[in-house]
Amino acid sequence: MSAVPAFDPRAAVPRHVAIVMDGNGRWAKKRFMPRFFGHKAGVDALVRTVLSCADRGVEYLTVFAFSSENWKRPTEEVSGLMGLVLVAVAKYLSKLADKGVRIRIVGDRSQVSDKLRHAWEQAESSTRHNSRITLSVAFNYGGRWDIVQACRQAISEGVPAAALDEAALNKYMALSHAPDPDLFIRTGGEVRISNFLLWQAAYSELFFSDCLWPEFDDAELDAAFAAYAKRDRRFGAVDSAANATALDRV
Ligand code: FPP
Repeated sequence: MSAVPAFDPRAAVPRHVAIVMDGNGRWAKKRFMPRFFGHKAGVDALVRTVLSCADRGVEYLTVFAFSSENWKRPTEEVSGLMGLVLVAVAKYLSKLADKGVRIRIVGDRSQVSDKLRHAWEQAESSTRHNSRITLSVAFNYGGRWDIVQACRQAISEGVPAAALDEAALNKYMALSHAPDPDLFIRTGGEVRISNFLLWQAAYSELFFSDCLWPEFDDAELDAAFAAYAKRDRRFGAVDSAANATALDRV
């Protein structure tokens, strides 16, 4: 009798993974450290995760780094996060570029400093020819903002109302360079979407992890992929196997 092969979580790899990286503050608090310490560790976790996703064959990874609502946080934390972007770009850009990562930034750039905008432009332009994995960093992003900005662009280009169907509007959405996410992960134990990818996550499979983001590792990523591999994705259609069985009975 042949042995049953062990379940391989890499067998059904999502093409596009989206992550709400939650739990940095609590991770730092548990260590009696300031929240910024957690965000710093969060950047390291992000770089690890990008490379792990690339190794597993994921083509697109989209992460929520700063939401439209995060401006409500204490000024010190907001400026800490902005500064962290500059540090992260200086520390990791060449490594990510060498590993074949294409970087895209999605979100409203009008409210960030020139320095930050230049760092984003540098990250995007120096990785634009890479094709192993596309990392989209959502910064000053909100799902509702995205839908509104897409409508505004379409209107300003004179798209007639009758021509504005889902496919037409999708071309104006911030993630038009990527297919819709297959798997949507949120760490940190909260079970909500928090205004991330409202349009694009319509049929994403959801996975909520109790891991605080800085401790998210390969084992948890593989657990998410294993859960994803077991899901029956129907996109609103009927379950074909169940339907066939029901018809057999008729
Ligand atoms: C949520 O944790 C996390 C954020 C608001 C920021 C996420 C940012 C990073 C992981 C750094 C990546 C940044 C760059 C430079 C791309 P929280 O602060 O809400 O944690 P809590 O729920 O435990 O308080």
